[in-house]
Amino acid sequence: MIETILNYPLSRDRLIDLLSSSGEEEKALFDYSTATKLKNVGNEVYLRGLIELSNICDKDCFYCGIRKSNNNITRFTLKYEEVIESVKYAYEKGYGSIVIQSGERSSRSFSDKIDKIIRESKKITNNNIGITLSCGEQSEETYLRWFESGADRYLLRIETSSEELYKKLHPKDTLHNYTNRRNALELLRKTGYQLGTGVMIGLPFQTTEMLADDLIFMRDLNIDMCGMGPYIEHTKTPLYKFREQLPITTVRLGLALKMISLLRILMPDINIAATTALKVLDQKATEKAIAIGANVIMPNITPLFYRKEYLLYENRSEPLFSFEDELALLEKRLETISHRIGYNKQGNSKHYTKN
Ligand code: 5AD
Repeated sequence: MIETILNYPLSRDRLIDLLSSSGEEEKALFDYSTATKLKNVGNEVYLRGLIELSNICDKDCFYCGIRKSNNNITRFTLKYEEVIESVKYAYEKGYGSIVIQSGERSSRSFSDKIDKIIRESKKITNNNIGITLSCGEQSEETYLRWFESGADRYLLRIETSSEELYKKLHPKDTLHNYTNRRNALELLRKTGYQLGTGVMIGLPFQTTEMLADDLIFMRDLNIDMCGMGPYIEHTKTPLYKFREQLPITTVRLGLALKMISLLRILMPDINIAATTALKVLDQKATEKAIAIGANVIMPNITPLFYRKEYLLYENRSEPLFSFEDELALLEKRLETISHRIGYNKQGNSKHYTKN
């Protein structure tokens, strides 16, 4: 039944229906996206070692634990040497790529530091490691500088494609601006990066219509990669007071999985990450997301000491064991869904290399 429907370009109405699907219909959707995924990107999962460079942030997003106004956390920035150690570690362990993520900062010294990290990371790995940046909105000059130093990809979530909802979540309009963020994505593409964006799923005030529009937004932007996950409430943020309006955990997880599944059908050859926030809702969420559409995992390789301060949301699951054990466990989990890790592969977006 689903095949016939999916033979046509998926309309907005159909996306809305499918986002609300359950039971047999939901299963048929997942079966279809599973097949689409295997046909286009196979059963290999690419690793990105996530390095959380700094939790200092100029922005004040209403949902985020490292927002500027949160005085309950200790701010940190990793030392250059600590980052390079993490990169070496990742490379030795067979991570084909790293992600440098940070709160948004615009000082020259900060962009210099990232520049130096990019150059050194490429140098010590003979250009063999892929580098994704997730460092917020920057000037065109900075995007270009980092790209020319060797960064391959840039991840900047639009957070929601609904301008109305965006304004509710980011009310300080001197700091946050939907049009600027949208334009930043265009600039990043123009610079030459593999372009990634994403949204949060299950936010207060968010409707299935908005989520369907998010999918259409990503398709129309012709992105190369996507990282999207459920919204997880954080007590020390203004959005927390709306927690009663949230969809219950199972519904939120289901919505996130259906978003991944539908995006895979809409954009068969892009890279889609099974994001960390999924794991907060369900221990098996990573496998579930990989099985029905995702093909990238981002294990955290930030030095353990700093991790407790980089809480975008609460109840984040942290490994109590070593990083090595984490990969071994991941391998076992992936085996249960007949997937394997693509060790030593950068895993660039097929969508990008093709175009
Ligand atoms: N729940 C889920 N995701 C969040 N992010 C920030 N705060 C939260 C939260 N409370 C996401 C944003 C941001 C990314 C780095 O983390 O989408 O782009």
